[in-house]
Amino acid sequence: MEQVKNRNSVSRILILGIAFLLTFSMPAVAQDAPAGDAAKGKELFNSLCAACHKRYKKSTGPALFGVTDRRDTEWIYSWVKNSKAMIDAGDADAIAIFEEYKKTPMNAFPQLSNTDIDNIIAYVMEPKATPSTGVTPGGDQAQQVEGTVISNELILGALAFILLLLISILVLVNKTLKNIAKANGVELPEDKEGHKPLWKAFVDNQFLVIVSSILLLLVSAYFAYGYLMQVGVDQGYQPIQPIHYSHRIHAGDNKIDCKYCHSSARVSKTSGIPSLNVCMNCHKSISEVAETTATADHSKEFYDGEIQKLYNAVGWDPSSQSYTGETKPVKWVRIHNLPDFAYFNHSQHVSVAGVKCQQCHGPIEEMEVVYQHAPLTMGWCINCHRETNVKVEGNEYYEKIHKELSKKYGVDKLTAAQMGGLECGKCHY
Ligand code: HEC
Ligand code: HEC
Ligand code: HEC
Ligand code: HEC
Ligand code: HEC
Ligand code: HEC
Repeated sequence: MEQVKNRNSVSRILILGIAFLLTFSMPAVAQDAPAGDAAKGKELFNSLCAACHKRYKKSTGPALFGVTDRRDTEWIYSWVKNSKAMIDAGDADAIAIFEEYKKTPMNAFPQLSNTDIDNIIAYVMEPKATPSTGVTPGGDQAQQVEGTVISNELILGALAFILLLLISILVLVNKTLKNIAKANGVELPEDKEGHKPLWKAFVDNQFLVIVSSILLLLVSAYFAYGYLMQVGVDQGYQPIQPIHYSHRIHAGDNKIDCKYCHSSARVSKTSGIPSLNVCMNCHKSISEVAETTATADHSKEFYDGEIQKLYNAVGWDPSSQSYTGETKPVKWVRIHNLPDFAYFNHSQHVSVAGVKCQQCHGPIEEMEVVYQHAPLTMGWCINCHRETNVKVEGNEYYEKIHKELSKKYGVDKLTAAQMGGLECGKCHY
């Protein structure tokens, strides 16, 4: 009888354990968004919606991340297909959001199917990526990061589950042994001393103590590592600049080439920030922005005021179209900054290697205010050197070295790492 009961409780504990594991991994897997294809959604979103919507920030329209928490799917289908029809029909939510956005009309998209909209929802409901240490050129960083977060959670969950299982098995074995002993009439020492407190039983059990210490060490090492990797990393740093200069408006909307302003990136170690004279090439004639440049976050008056700050700094009087001679230097706050002991050269990467600015600096042309996109850690530099092939075509110097080295490594393509990009002396003086 007793044994049957015990076997029952073993299976009960197993089921409990599995349920525990499932709930543990649930939040990472289950998003209550419809199951759409986020990659297809991204394309649709960028071509149809991105002009007015951002995922995580308010733009002309609301941020769409979390939209399924506010609205049910059917509502979203009919809104996207024809929002005006819903407003005219008197849908209270539709009218409320329309009023909130100062009656800015949203385009109708009758051509979109429900599946298309599901795909867009899947894309906008993707959680924001957390800082990462590796940037794969052209790869989808966000996806990689999410992958590691999920697997770390799973590992922790699995460890906790194993510990739980071990404890329960021990308790059960102990109980069964005691029962067998009792049945055989053996007197147990504990029975004489009375019941041992649980903590004492735990401390006395060397095996349990060792297992839990190992687990504790693993968990703390995991968190300590995560913490240490963040020290001195300024990823996401976004200081307020003395003039609100928008890369989105200049490099994005007006498609001004990066090198128009950061001309030295091609030929020298540093990229440099342009002098205000460069700005005045255009701003002698541009003293205000167009009505359409204004966004929900920044009004036309705000932008015009910022251009006035530029005029104050260079001493330009727009009414008389002449310089007054009174200048006030603008102190741009430096964002990207490696420690002095590390050497980095822009022309090596931009001209020689042909790496795009965006691979290291992110989507600058979409940034209203520049922030540090990459972690700029040693691991980040090295990762890319391991993964990026050196461009050798049309470069006599490299073609020769390439032939010798590719023989040495027995591969067709050479990475920056194989060219010496991992040698300490290349990056450290
Ligand atoms: C021309 C600008 C514009 C475009 C393009 C646009 N939207 Fe909108 N959207 C808005 C505005 C503005 C609102 C706020 C309500 C209003 O004023 O009509 C809104 C509201 C919404 C809402 C309601 C959000 C909420 O919190 O209730 C959803 C959903 C939405 N848009 C989805 C989309 C999708 C999907 C696309 C692309 C297929 C898209 N929008 C394209 C401007 C736009
Ligand atoms: C019209 C001039 C202009 C153009 C065009 C321009 N920039 Fe800039 N850039 C600036 C100014 C001014 C600053 C300093 C203020 C700031 O950080 O926003 C700056 C800052 C930066 C920074 C941050 C520097 C730091 O402090 O670490 C990066 C990175 C950058 N630009 C990259 C780019 C890229 C990439 C492009 C092309 C997509 C580009 N810029 C186009 C003028 C320009
Ligand atoms: C190649 C031409 C060109 C150059 C160079 C240029 N701008 Fe602009 N700037 C523009 C245009 C075009 C607009 C937007 C006008 C509009 O939207 O109607 C603008 C808008 C602005 C605005 C208002 C919007 C915003 O970004 O906040 C400011 C401030 C500004 N520029 C500052 C600068 C500064 C500072 C520099 C030098 C680092 C500079 N500009 C260099 C063409 C230029
Ligand atoms: C391989 C990565 C990489 C590429 C590609 C790259 N940058 Fe940088 N950029 C950096 C790093 C790293 C720093 C910090 C340098 C330092 O502190 O010495 C930096 C700094 C800057 C700065 C701050 C001022 C300075 O000169 O240090 C500007 C502006 C800038 N980059 C613009 C650009 C532009 C424009 C391009 C494209 C033409 C570009 N970068 C391409 C990695 C890169
Ligand atoms: C986006 C990819 C990428 C990133 C990020 C990157 N590099 Fe590079 N780097 C390259 C490539 C590709 C080359 C090979 C260029 C060539 O043909 O010599 C290179 C070459 C170099 C070289 C010359 C190596 C040699 O053999 O002469 C140095 C030094 C260097 N990188 C330093 C850095 C530092 C420091 C960082 C981080 C702050 C960094 N790089 C980040 C791609 C990258
Ligand atoms: C591709 C360029 C590159 C190479 C190769 C490289 N480093 Fe670094 N290293 C860096 C950069 C960039 C930093 C600054 C990182 C930061 O500020 O977080 C750094 C930082 C360091 C630090 C300071 C600790 C830290 O992580 O901030 C040490 C120590 C160091 N490197 C040692 C080495 C040794 C030893 C080698 C050779 C095995 C080496 N590095 C090769 C780019 C490089």
